[in-house]
Amino acid sequence: MVDYEHSPVTVDGKRAIVVGGTSGIGQAIALGFAAEGADVIATSRDESKVAETAAAIEGRGVETARVTCDVTDPESLERVRETAVDEFGGIDIVVASQGAISRATVQDISDEEWDFVTDVALDGVRRVTQTFAPAMAEGGSIVNISSLSARLSMANLPAYTAAKGGVEAFTRASAKELAPDVRVNAIAPGFVITPQNAETYADGTEKRARIDERTPLGRVAERDEIVGAAIYLGSDAASFVTGEIVTVDGGFADSAF
Ligand SMILES: NC(=O)c1ccc[n+]([C@@H]2O[C@H](COP(=O)([O-])OP(=O)(O)OC[C@H]3O[C@@H](n4cnc5c(N)ncnc54)[C@H](O)[C@@H]3O)[C@@H](O)[C@H]2O)c1
Repeated sequence: MVDYEHSPVTVDGKRAIVVGGTSGIGQAIALGFAAEGADVIATSRDESKVAETAAAIEGRGVETARVTCDVTDPESLERVRETAVDEFGGIDIVVASQGAISRATVQDISDEEWDFVTDVALDGVRRVTQTFAPAMAEGGSIVNISSLSARLSMANLPAYTAAKGGVEAFTRASAKELAPDVRVNAIAPGFVITPQNAETYADGTEKRARIDERTPLGRVAERDEIVGAAIYLGSDAASFVTGEIVTVDGGFADSAF
C-alpha cells in the first residue's frame, strides 16, 4: 500500500513557464499553477497581458517575472529561459499553449497562411522544447497543448489540424528522446470557452446546441477545466507518464451519438 503524507498531485514548489500563458487556456493553467504554489512565468508577445497576468500570479503569493516572447523568434525564447534560470534557479515544468488558426479550406489555403499557422502551432512547440529542455531539472515535465482536431477532422481547419497532428507526433518523439530526464505529454482539449470564441460558443447559438448534444457531458468546457490535467502532468504523480495524449473533451471524441 502506498502511504502518502501529501498528495503527489501538486505542483507546489515547482518552477513553471507557460508560453501563451496570458490568455485563454494557458492563462488558466498559469494561474492554477500559481494557486497551487508554483512560481510561474506566463509569457506571450503581448507586454500588457504579460504584466496583467504577472500581477495576478503575484496575487497568489508566488514568484514570477515579466518577459515577452514570440515562438517564431528563438532569441526571444532564450530570453525567457535566461530569465527563469536567473530568477527561479531552474525550470521544472514548461507548458506550450500558444495558438494560431486559419479557416481557409484545403483548396484555398495559401502558403503564407499555412506557414503562419504551422510556424506558431507546430514549429513553435518544437522551438519551445529545444529552448527549455536543456535547462530543465531532472524529473521535468513538458506539456504541449494539442486539440481534438488532431484526431477528429473539422472542415476549414487543414493547417490547424495538420499542426496539431504534428504536435502529438512530436510529443511522442520528444518523449522518447528526452527520457528519462524530462517527460513530455500533451493535453487535447475539446471545445473550451475562451475570450476569443465566447461568441461562437455562446449559449443559444446553433453551433453550441450541436456541440452540447454530441457531448456526453452535455456542454462545452470552461478553461479552468483544462487546468487539472496540466497540474497532474506537471506533478510527480505523473512520474511514469510520458509520450501520452490526455483528452479533456467531456467524452466527445469517443461517443458516436
Ligand atoms: N479554446 C479551445 O476551444 C481550444 C480547443 C482545443 C485546443 N486549443 C488550444 O489551446 C491553446 C490555447 O488556445 P486558447 O483558446 O486559450 O487561445 P488564446 O488565443 O486565448 O491563447 C493563445 C495564447 O497564445 C499566444 N500566442 C499567439 N501567438 C503567439 C506567438 N507567436 N508567440 C507567443 N505567444 C503567442 C497569445 O498571445 C495567447 O496568449 C492553443 O494551442 C489552442 O490551439 C483550444
